[in-house]
Amino acid sequence: MSEANHWAARAGAPLRGTLTIPGDKSISHRSVMFAALADGVSTVDGFLEGEDTRATAASFAKMGVRIETPSPSRRIVHGVGVDGLQAPAAPLDCGNAGTGMRLLAGLLAAQRFDSTLMGDASLSKRPMRRVTLPLAKLGARIDTGEGGTPPLRIHGGQPLVGIDHTLDVASAQVKSALLLAGLYARGETVVREPHPTRDYTERMLAAFGVEIDYSPGYARLRGGQRLRATDVAVPADFSSAAFFLVAASIVPGSELRLRQVGLNPRRTGLLQALRLMGADIREDNAGVHGGEPVADLLVRHAPLHGIEVPETLVPDMIDEFPALFIAAACANGPTVVRGAAELRVKESDRLGVMAAGLRTLGLRVDETPDGATIHPGPLGSGTIESHDDHRIAMAFAVAGQVATGEVCIREVATVATSFPGFDTLARGAGFGLDSSF
Ligand code: S3P
Repeated sequence: MSEANHWAARAGAPLRGTLTIPGDKSISHRSVMFAALADGVSTVDGFLEGEDTRATAASFAKMGVRIETPSPSRRIVHGVGVDGLQAPAAPLDCGNAGTGMRLLAGLLAAQRFDSTLMGDASLSKRPMRRVTLPLAKLGARIDTGEGGTPPLRIHGGQPLVGIDHTLDVASAQVKSALLLAGLYARGETVVREPHPTRDYTERMLAAFGVEIDYSPGYARLRGGQRLRATDVAVPADFSSAAFFLVAASIVPGSELRLRQVGLNPRRTGLLQALRLMGADIREDNAGVHGGEPVADLLVRHAPLHGIEVPETLVPDMIDEFPALFIAAACANGPTVVRGAAELRVKESDRLGVMAAGLRTLGLRVDETPDGATIHPGPLGSGTIESHDDHRIAMAFAVAGQVATGEVCIREVATVATSFPGFDTLARGAGFGLDSSF
């Protein structure tokens, strides 16, 4: 992580080279959680050394799980079994991680002991009733702060009973919390989704030996099952790769190869959106890594045109809108986003914060409650408030590469939550990005 808490981004060189992107955040969180609950010793390779995922590992260490780090991005987890977690002596700090907090809420609601989950300033503003209310239907007792936000005070020792629940919002975090609680519940737990979301929990529980029935938009498991230790291989995070896909698309003369990126179809909506915009992105060396489809992504500069982002793609690119907004800013013709109200409750209000940032750089952005229309134009200079949102910071570092002046981005330290070393990797590829002033 860089020492400075701001960046100065400005046009650099055409982006060139072969990049290795760090491990997937969603899969890394789940890998230590499920390995901790398993019987036996599991290894995790490609673990994301981000603050979010480390916070999750630290929470399990505080509940008596031995986790070794023999080398960076590798963990050896000594599982304690589904009934082996110990009461933590103090509140568990999830840092910036919504995934950590929401999944832990499901798991801890089923334990014999009481626990408290807290987070940083950004996480402390995020809605938790979406997870506590359906968990209450299983019998869980969780108190939220005023307004349904963290901290979460979880009352242990509650008998849980399986439910058949249809989610109000498409959320893999809520689905996963219910499935984790369901593992401890009497009978079956069924989760149905309005639109299929990432299925890492389902896939990984199956890899840990749990009998689980799942198909897009549906998951069902029986309570009382145990997990069997296994080895997990984490692919590179598509959401981190996204910034380089957009950067190389918009900086003339660029050509990048991103090695072995995870291409789970529930994550790659941006790939489809960029291709609809005319991006030149090819897949090479396709394979399977840790049960996930992967491929090298070869991206070359190409003129982009504005699109109406198909609403069906929104859940599959939910974390990629900051990057998409920058692509849209550089396209020919406006881009329209709809059906993306969830963006308002991410690490920041990503619709509002991206619109404000692009306006600072001279663009017109029309905001609606669930979307925006981005009117492209030349990007000027200015100071961007990231609102401590890692993806906003990285998105504007990309914008700086095509700006006519300097783009100063404030509060970039949170980039370490998901993409430690982004600035060094980006500079190596040709970015003009100064973090040492
Ligand atoms: C995640 C699910 C998504 C996503 C987040 C990671 C996960 O959140 O935005 O970055 O790992 O399950 P929601 O479930 O709130 O949509």
